[in-house]
Amino acid sequence: MKRITLLALSVLACGVTAAPKADVAKGKEIAATLCSSCHATDGNSGIATYPRLAAQMPNYIEKHARDIRDGKRAWGNAEQMRVSPGISTMTDEQIRDVAAFFATQYPKAGEVHPKENPELGEKLFRGGLAEKGIPACMSCHGPNGAGMPAGGTDTLAFPRIGGQHKEYVVEQLKAYQSGVRKNAMMEDIAKRLSAEEMNAVGNFIQGLH
Ligand code: HEC
Ligand code: HEC
Repeated sequence: MKRITLLALSVLACGVTAAPKADVAKGKEIAATLCSSCHATDGNSGIATYPRLAAQMPNYIEKHARDIRDGKRAWGNAEQMRVSPGISTMTDEQIRDVAAFFATQYPKAGEVHPKENPELGEKLFRGGLAEKGIPACMSCHGPNGAGMPAGGTDTLAFPRIGGQHKEYVVEQLKAYQSGVRKNAMMEDIAKRLSAEEMNAVGNFIQGLH
């Protein structure tokens, strides 16, 4: 894990690989027309089914929006998005523009529920659980859950999870646990988490900013 963090940092130091420049103004229009009904105009959706996209890593948004459009990401509620008008015919360029727009939006956090074990959630997030071999979430997702770029490795990005809806986070952790959602690092971590731990860490993450 240390190696991954170091790699992420060295890539940061060299600058992110040059990609064709995205048009944020066009992205804003696309977001207002095709995404805002679910993810909100600024990407800070208030409904737990719809993940927050504000300030998410742009290449992460791009990949996942393409995967949903192409039916490659089909777990959870992705089908709702795939069949929404205009999504299936989006070009890669439009997706890049809209990803760049959401990435520049100011992220808002939700609230932590005091009765859903925020102490355990914080412990998992900041320190992990050594006895179960669970690493601290923040070692990859950052101390405030803001995510980190990771270009140049097999990992596209360590996505932002701070402020994300608890229900969505738990749903994704379950998808990694069952293996429908593929990612070696997250599958290994999710398999070690109990339902109670998933809920507690999701609750803590929801209030992070
Ligand atoms: C009809 C509602 C709807 C619309 C419209 C919609 N989405 Fe989504 N989107 C969803 C849902 C639901 C999910 C969560 C899928 C899941 O449960 O895994 C999602 C997931 C995503 C994700 C993955 C987020 C993550 O953290 O992994 C991205 C990226 C995304 N949407 C981008 C977009 C963009 C860009 C647009 C507009 C071009 C858009 N969506 C329009 C419903 C929608
Ligand atoms: C070793 C690095 C690493 C650690 C530690 C880690 N993650 Fe992740 N996480 C990732 C990567 C990489 C992804 C993106 C994988 C993908 O694209 O599916 C990810 C994705 C996620 C997602 C999906 C985000 C989304 O928007 O759909 C959630 C939720 C998540 N991690 C939660 C956690 C939690 C909770 C912990 C701590 C218990 C944790 N992660 C620890 C690397 C890590």
